[in-house]
Amino acid sequence: MTVTQIIGKSLGHHYGDLWLFRGVNLHLTPGRVTALTGPSGTGKSTLLAILAGTTAPVEGSVLRDGVTGITLIAQAAYGVPSRTVLDHITLPFLASGIPRFEAEERARPIADLFGIEHLLSAPYRQLSGGEAQRLMLARASAQESELILADEPTANLDAHNARGVIAVLGGLAESGAVVVVATHDPLARAACDDVIDLADAAMHENASRSLPHQRFSTSGEAS
Ligand SMILES: Nc1ncnc2c1ncn2[C@@H]1O[C@H](COP(=O)(O)OP(=O)(O)OP(=O)(O)O)[C@@H](O)[C@H]1O
Ligand SMILES: [Mg+2]
Repeated sequence: MTVTQIIGKSLGHHYGDLWLFRGVNLHLTPGRVTALTGPSGTGKSTLLAILAGTTAPVEGSVLRDGVTGITLIAQAAYGVPSRTVLDHITLPFLASGIPRFEAEERARPIADLFGIEHLLSAPYRQLSGGEAQRLMLARASAQESELILADEPTANLDAHNARGVIAVLGGLAESGAVVVVATHDPLARAACDDVIDLADAAMHENASRSLPHQRFSTSGEAS
C-alpha cells in the first residue's frame, strides 16, 4: 500500500513585488489536522491552492504521495442554486458510478453528521451561509479524497456548529485523509493537531513582507 504523505519543500510565493511567504517546509500525514493561520492576506488560500496543485509555487516544490483525489473546499461556498442539498451530496457518489438509490442511502448519514439532514430537499439557494458551508463539507466527505483542504470552514458558523465541523474534519483525518484547514478562528486552531503560521514564515524568511501593517514600511526591514 502506498503511504499517503504531502511534502512541501522551501515553498515561496508572490504575486507582485513582495513575497507572501518563503521557506515554508511541511510534511503532512494522515491522522492529523493541520491549521494554516496568519492574518488576512498572508497567503493561506494561496498555499492551499499550491498544495492542491492548482497554483504553481514561485519557489519550491510539492510532493503528493498516495493521493488519488484532492478536495479543496473554497472560502466562498459554491453550489448550484436550483439543486437540492441531497443532489449536492449524492453527486460525488453518482460520479463514481454508484446507483442513485445507494448514493442517497450513503448521503443521508453524511447530512446527519453536518446537521443538515432536515434540509435534504431544500434547494441550495435557500441555504444560509453556514448551511451552505456545511453542505460543501458534507459533499467533500462524500468524495473520499486523501487530501482535504478546507478554506475557513468555520467562518460562517456559530461555536456549536464550528465544533461539529472540526470534529468531522478530525474524523476524516482519522480515517486516513491528510486534512489542512486555513483559519482565523481561535477555536478551530485550538482543535487542530498542528499549526503552520504564515505570519511566522514571512517574519523569518522575508524582510519586506506584504502584511497589511507592513505595507507602508519604507525601511524594508521587518521589526
Ligand atoms: N491571483 C492573484 N493575483 C494577484 N494577487 C493575488 C491573487 N490571489 C491572491 N492575491 C493576493 O495575494 C495575497 C494573499 O492572498 P490569499 O487569498 O492567499 O490570502 P489569505 O491569507 O487567504 O487571506 P484571507 O485571510 O483574507 O482569506 C492577497 O494580498 C491577495 O490580494
Ligand atoms: Mg483566504
